[in-house]
Amino acid sequence: MIDMIKICICMLVVIAQLNQNLVYATNHDIGIGIADITGTVAGVNMMGYAMPGQIAAGLHIRQRSRAFIIIDSNTGKRIVFVSADLGMGSLAVRRATLEKLRKTFGDLYHEGNVAISGTHTHAGPAGYLQYALYQITSFGYVKENTEAISTGIYNSIVKAHDSIQPGSIFVSSGELLGANINRSPFSYEQNPEGERSQYKYNVDKEMILLKFTNAKGDVIGSVNWFPVHPVSMMNNNTLVSGDNKGTASYLLEREYNNGTLPGEETIVHAFANSNLGDSSPNIFGPYCADTGLPCDYRHSTCNGKKDTCFGRGYGYLTGDDIYATKKIAELHVVKAKELIDKATTLITGSVDYKFTKVDMQNYNFTLSGKVVSLCKAALGYSMIAGTTDGPGGFDFIQGDNSTGNPFWKLFTGIVKQPTDETIECQRPKPIVLATGEMKYPYDLTPSIVEIQLLKIGNIIICVVPAEFTTMSGRRLKKIVKNVLMKKGIINENGIVIVSGPSNTYTHYVTTPEEYSVQRYEGGSTIYGPNTLNAYLQLYTDLSVALADNFIVPIGPTAPDFTDRALSFIPPVILDIPPLFKSFGDVIKDVNKKYIKGGIVEVEFVGGHPKNHIQLESSFLYVQKLEGNKWINFKNDGNLTTKFKWLGNSIVKIIWEITDDVEAGTYRIFYQGYHKLLGGKIVPESGFTSNFTVS
Ligand SMILES: *[C@@H]1O[C@H](CO)[C@@H](O)[C@H](O)[C@H]1NC(C)=O
Ligand SMILES: *[C@@H]1O[C@H](CO)[C@@H](O)[C@H](O)[C@H]1NC(C)=O
Ligand SMILES: *[C@@H]1O[C@H](CO)[C@@H](O)[C@H](O)[C@H]1NC(C)=O
Ligand SMILES: *[C@@H]1O[C@H](CO)[C@@H](O)[C@H](O)[C@H]1NC(C)=O
Ligand SMILES: *[C@@H]1O[C@H](CO)[C@@H](O)[C@H](O)[C@H]1NC(C)=O
Ligand SMILES: *[C@@H]1O[C@H](CO)[C@@H](O)[C@H](O)[C@H]1NC(C)=O
Repeated sequence: MIDMIKICICMLVVIAQLNQNLVYATNHDIGIGIADITGTVAGVNMMGYAMPGQIAAGLHIRQRSRAFIIIDSNTGKRIVFVSADLGMGSLAVRRATLEKLRKTFGDLYHEGNVAISGTHTHAGPAGYLQYALYQITSFGYVKENTEAISTGIYNSIVKAHDSIQPGSIFVSSGELLGANINRSPFSYEQNPEGERSQYKYNVDKEMILLKFTNAKGDVIGSVNWFPVHPVSMMNNNTLVSGDNKGTASYLLEREYNNGTLPGEETIVHAFANSNLGDSSPNIFGPYCADTGLPCDYRHSTCNGKKDTCFGRGYGYLTGDDIYATKKIAELHVVKAKELIDKATTLITGSVDYKFTKVDMQNYNFTLSGKVVSLCKAALGYSMIAGTTDGPGGFDFIQGDNSTGNPFWKLFTGIVKQPTDETIECQRPKPIVLATGEMKYPYDLTPSIVEIQLLKIGNIIICVVPAEFTTMSGRRLKKIVKNVLMKKGIINENGIVIVSGPSNTYTHYVTTPEEYSVQRYEGGSTIYGPNTLNAYLQLYTDLSVALADNFIVPIGPTAPDFTDRALSFIPPVILDIPPLFKSFGDVIKDVNKKYIKGGIVEVEFVGGHPKNHIQLESSFLYVQKLEGNKWINFKNDGNLTTKFKWLGNSIVKIIWEITDDVEAGTYRIFYQGYHKLLGGKIVPESGFTSNFTVS
C-alpha cells in the first residue's frame, strides 16, 4: 500500500515535471546581475571621440555592467556574458575583474569563460586602457577608473552568481528600422556586387534577442544585439552617460522594476553592440554645416575641408543630444519589447566556450595558397581625420605641440618614421603613426588579442576585440555558421552573433576592399589589409576546436603596463569653499512652488567629484515627503536628474519634473566629498528648502 502510494506520488511528480518541461523546460541554470561601473565624473577626459578638450563635468545617467551567467544543467559548464556601458573592452579592466573573481570563486570564472563586451558609449570617463595611444587624449592612465569599472563588473557577476536559478532561454529576432545608417557607404560599395546583393541594407538592421525566464516562466532579463555607434551624445557633451544603449537599458528596466530606484533593479535588460564599425545613429546623413548641402560622398568633406561635415541625427535641429539619445534608445526599446513578447523558440543544447590569445603582429596564415603575415600596427591619416559622427578628434597628433598636452609631448621627437616593411605591409594606408613600432613609454597599441566563442545551444557568440564593419561582421558570421553547420554543432536555424568591441580594444576591422579606399574605418584597421582574413581564419580554427572538442593552447600573455602607467592628470590639492560658505551649503535654492513640466535648478558648495568615486551611490536625491518621512524618490541615475560640476567648488543639480510626478512636498539632497589641506578627504552634504509640486 505504502509502495503504491509512493509510486503514485512518483508518477504525479513525473507528470508534473513533464508538464512543466513541455511549457518551461528549465534546461539551463541562469544568473543575472547589474551593478554600477561609473568612475570619475569630472576632471577626466571622455573615452571615444579622442578629443583632449572633452572633459567630463557631471552625470546624465550612471554606467552599468549587466552580467549573465548561463550554466549547462547536464555538464555544469558555464559562461559569463557581460555587457558593460563602456567605450570598449579593456585588458586592464579584464585582468582586474578576473583577479577579483579568482579571489572569490577560485577557478570557476576565468579568461576562457568570461566575456566583457563594451556597448561602445562615447560618454564615459577615459583612462582605463593600458596601451599608451588611448592615454594621449586622457592625459595618462586613470587607475581609479580601472578600479571602479572592474569592481562594478565584478559586483554584477557576483550578483548574477548569487541569483542562479533554473530557467529557460528563448530567442527571437527582427528588423529595427530607422535607428542606424552606414556612415561610410563609399567604403561599403567597394565590396563585390554579388556579395552586397545578398543583403537588403548596407548596415545590419536585425536585432537578435535572448529572453531569460525562471521556472515559473516569468521574464528575469534579456540581452540583445544591434549594431549602432552610441554617439547620440555629441563630442561636446560633458555628462557621463551610457548613451543610446545605456538609456535603452534604463528605460526597459524601469518598466520591469516598478518602484525601484535606478541601481536597485532585479530584472536586467542589456542592449549589447555588434558589427557597428560603420553604423551610425545619425540617420539623416552627413551635411555641411555652412551650406546645408550633402558632404562629399567619398571624403566626407565640405569644399575640401572636413571640419564642417556632420552626420545629422535627432539632435541636429535643436542641438539637444539628450533628446537624440532618448529617441534612438526608444526605438531600441520598442523593438526589444516586441522581441521579448515573440521569443518562443526555446534554446536547447549544450553550453560551451573556446578561447585563445593570439599575437596579431606576428601572425602568419595561409590565404589562397600563399602564406601571408599581418603588419605591425599603424594608423592611417584618415583615422586622424575622424568621422562624420565627430570629425577631427585626433587632429592634434599631426606633429604639432601647440595643444600643451604633456602626454603627447613625450612622443614628439620620438615619433618614428615607419619602417619600409610596415609601409609595404600596410599599403595602401598612408601611415600617420606606426604604433606597433613605438614602444615608448610603453606599447601604444595591443598586439595580443583574445579570440573567444560562446555557445548556448544553437546560438554562437563571436566575442570580438574590435569594431567590425557591417560586411566584416557578415563574413565572420557566415564562415563560423558554415563551419559549425558542417560539423553538426548547430543547424540551419543556428544564429551566429558578433559581440563587441570586447575584452581588448584594437580599433576597427574592415574588409580588404573597404581597406583599399582608406576612409576612417580602413585607416583604423591597425594590422593592415589582411586583418579581417586573419580573424576569419582564427574564428574558423576556434570553431573547429569547439566542434571537435580540442584543447586549444591559451596563447601568449600580453605585458602588463598598469603598474608603470603614467598619469598627467592634475590631482585635487585642496577644495576651497566660496567666502563665508561651507561645504554642503545651498548657494542657489529652490523656489517655493513648481508645477509639473517645471525644472528645478539648484547649486551647492561641493568638493571635486574626483575626490571619491560614489559607486552604487548617488551625488543627489530628490526626496519626497511621505507622512512625516523623507523618501528617496530619484537619484543621479534617473534620466530626469542631472548632476553638474561647475568648478570652483560649486555643483549644480537639475530635476525635470515630469507629468507622472505626484503633487506633494519635495526637497533636493546633495552629498559629496572635499579635500582638506594635508590630503584628508571628508564627506559633506546638504538640503535645499522644501518645495511643492502641484
Ligand atoms: C507600480 O506600482 C505602483 C504602486 O507601488 C502601482 O500603483 C502601479 O500601478 C504600478 N505600475 C505598474 C506599471 O505596474
Ligand atoms: C526615475 O526613477 C523613479 C524611481 O525609480 C522611476 O519610477 C521613474 O520611472 C524614473 N523616472 C524616469 C523619468 O525615468
Ligand atoms: C554641441 O554642439 C552642437 C552643435 O554645434 C550645439 O548645438 C550644442 O548646443 C552643443 N552642446 C553643448 C553642450 O555645448
Ligand atoms: C611570420 O612570418 C614572419 C615573416 O615571414 C616571420 O618573421 C615570423 O617569425 C613568422 N611568425 C611566426 C609566429 O611564425
Ligand atoms: C615642438 O616643440 C619643440 C620644442 O618646443 C620645437 O623644437 C618643435 O619645432 C615643435 N614642433 C612643431 C611641429 O611645432
Ligand atoms: C520641511 O518639511 C519638514 C516636514 O514637514 C519640516 O519638518 C521642516 O521644518 C520643513 N523645512 C522647512 C525649511 O520648511
